[in-house]
Parts: sequence; C-alpha cells; structure tokens
Amino acid sequence: MAPLLHLENITKSFGRVTVAKDMTLSVAPGEALGIVGPNGAGKSSLFAMISGDLRPDRGTIRFDGRDITGAAPHARTRAGIGRTYQVPRPFEHLTVFENVLVCGHQGARLKGRAAWQRTMEVLDRTGLAPLANTPAGRLGLLQRKRLEVARAMGTGPRLVLLDEVAGGLTEPEVLELVTVVRQLHTEGLGIVWIEHVVHALVKTVGRMVCLAGGDVVADGDPVEVLADPKVRELYLGAGPEAGAGTAAEVLQ
Ligand SMILES: Nc1ncnc2c1ncn2[C@@H]1O[C@H](COP(=O)(O)OP(=O)(O)OP(=O)(O)O)[C@@H](O)[C@H]1O
Ligand SMILES: [Mg+2]
Repeated sequence: MAPLLHLENITKSFGRVTVAKDMTLSVAPGEALGIVGPNGAGKSSLFAMISGDLRPDRGTIRFDGRDITGAAPHARTRAGIGRTYQVPRPFEHLTVFENVLVCGHQGARLKGRAAWQRTMEVLDRTGLAPLANTPAGRLGLLQRKRLEVARAMGTGPRLVLLDEVAGGLTEPEVLELVTVVRQLHTEGLGIVWIEHVVHALVKTVGRMVCLAGGDVVADGDPVEVLADPKVRELYLGAGPEAGAGTAAEVLQ
C-alpha cells in the first residue's frame, strides 16, 4: 500500500543541534504509529516539519503522494494533516464549541450547518459535548488535552499528529485519553503519537519508532522496540526526571 505520509532523507539542524539526519520514515493509511525518544531528540521538530511550521534543510515530505515539502501549514491542514501542540493552544476566551468550530472553518472550509455538525460530532467523539459552552480558559488539563485532539479533529484530518497529549495526566485520565485515541484509530484515522507515557502508546499503536540523535534507532513492534537494548540504554540513562509511567519505568 502506498504510504499516506513519507519523509525521505530529511535533515534539519539548529546551529550545532541536529534534530534530523537523513531520516526516512513512512506512515501507511490508517496506521497508528508511536514515537518515543529522549527529551530534545527532535520529536516535536519532526511534527513541525510535517505540519509546515518548520522547513527541513534537505529532504522531501510527501502526503498522499503529493510533495508538500514547501507547502504552507494551512495547505497541509486542508490536505488532511491535523496536529496537536505539546503545550495546548486553545483560544482561551472562546468556548469549547467555538474553538472546534474555528478549526472546521479555517482547516476544512466548512460553513453553516456543515461546520456546526462537524463540531458537534467531534465534541461527542472526544467526550467534550457537556463542556461545549465552557470557555477554554476554564478547562482542567485533561479537558485541555481533549480539546487539542478535538481541534485537530475539527479540521477533518486523515492523519493526526498527537504531541504528548497524555503528559501530566493522572493514570485514570491517561486511560480516558487512550480510549478516545483508540476510537479515532478504529474509525480509520492515521495516527502518529509522540509520548513519554509509553504504556499509553503500547495500548494504542501497532508500530513504534524510537528517535535519537536525529535518526530512527528502532522501528517495529512496540514491545520489541521497548525491549531493544539501544532503546533501553537511551531511556535507562534518562535519570529520575523520566518520571512515572515513562519508558524507564515500564522497562524496569
Ligand atoms: N526553533 C528552534 N530553534 C532553535 N532550536 C530549536 C528549535 N526548536 C527546537 N530546537 C532544539 O532542537 C532540539 C529538539 O527539540 P524538540 O522540541 O524537537 O525535541 P523533543 O524530542 O520534542 O523533546 P521533548 O521530549 O522534550 O518534547 C532541542 O535541543 C531544542 O532546543
Ligand atoms: Mg517535544
């Protein structure tokens, strides 16, 4: 099957920091891929290159067969790439409903009833419908993370990029979020999920990649990737800040 997303020989440096070094990576349509890697490995930078916030120094990015390497972020959103941000970025003064509605308008050019219907459907799927009229600024962390997912969904993506949406949540909250993401995947959406809370990934994705030093150091079955000596070394050297539920803990 032709890949939905294909990164070929991507290279990107910030001065002396190299976040991608001739990296090649593909995601199949409807695939759920987990990405792990130490802090500063370049995971969020990779998403920025896929979503168009950052341009690679070299290499090509294809989505659905089209070269999107130089495409503007809004063009990529309209092509079907949705993303969340590691630090949630809602419009604080708008309600939950309005936040998602804006994404339908801007990301998918939906108007009138179609935009309203998409918004309601997304709020139902992400469990936010009861909070539709609450200003985003009043939401707790779990609901803010749900809203990030909902805003990405509002653009009608075929592929959604999730950047640490489980970070900072309690264990029951992580499980609630896993349920939401699994459901989206079941409905046929492609998912790439960067996460330090690796047990959430293991419950959700069919394939895992570990990034370090600007390259893919392991790629395959999630349990096998986590058992890979190179991956263990990277995480077990991560120190106490790795925290509860991270790869370091799962691998003990
Ligand atoms: N716009 C930028 N300008 C300069 N340096 C940057 C920029 N964006 C990222 N970096 C640097 O690139 C490296 C990778 O950052 P990135 O945020 O991609 O890592 P990450 O793997 O997402 O880390 P974390 O797990 O902590 O979220 C870091 O050293 C960071 O300081
Ligand atoms: Mg990051």
